[in-house]
Amino acid sequence: MTDRELIRAAFAVRERAYTPYSHFKVGAALLTRSGRVFTGCNIENASFSPTICAERAALAAAVSAGEREFDAIAIVGSMEGKVNTLPTSPCGVCRQALFEFGGNGLRVILAKSEEDYQELTLGRLLPLGFGPANVEH
Ligand code: THU
Repeated sequence: MTDRELIRAAFAVRERAYTPYSHFKVGAALLTRSGRVFTGCNIENASFSPTICAERAALAAAVSAGEREFDAIAIVGSMEGKVNTLPTSPCGVCRQALFEFGGNGLRVILAKSEEDYQELTLGRLLPLGFGPANVEH
């Protein structure tokens, strides 16, 4: 699975985003250490706060399938019918949710297209993240 293919999977699932309120569609594709890919889109809600981001939808699918170790996540987002000009960076809640399983080393790929993307680590996006190691006893 190349980064390009992971980005393509994120674009494909973005089509399924349910966004009647913001019209901002996001897709995320999460690559497990074992080489499987789980995807998620954002799912909004009339009551707003139950909205789930694409990244956490992908994480829920992966963990529900028994996967807990991840190598990378590709994220794409833009307004309905538009090409994105800015990269879509994961929100604070999603950074924390990913940190639980990905830790500092998770590669986060923010893509505008299959060719135009940047890669950061989760540790850079969430410095000194609070995770399972902090609550060991
Ligand atoms: N959203 C995501 O799904 N992921 C992100 O990384 C940023 C924001 C969603 C939440 C909401 O449905 C819409 O994008 C606008 O904020």
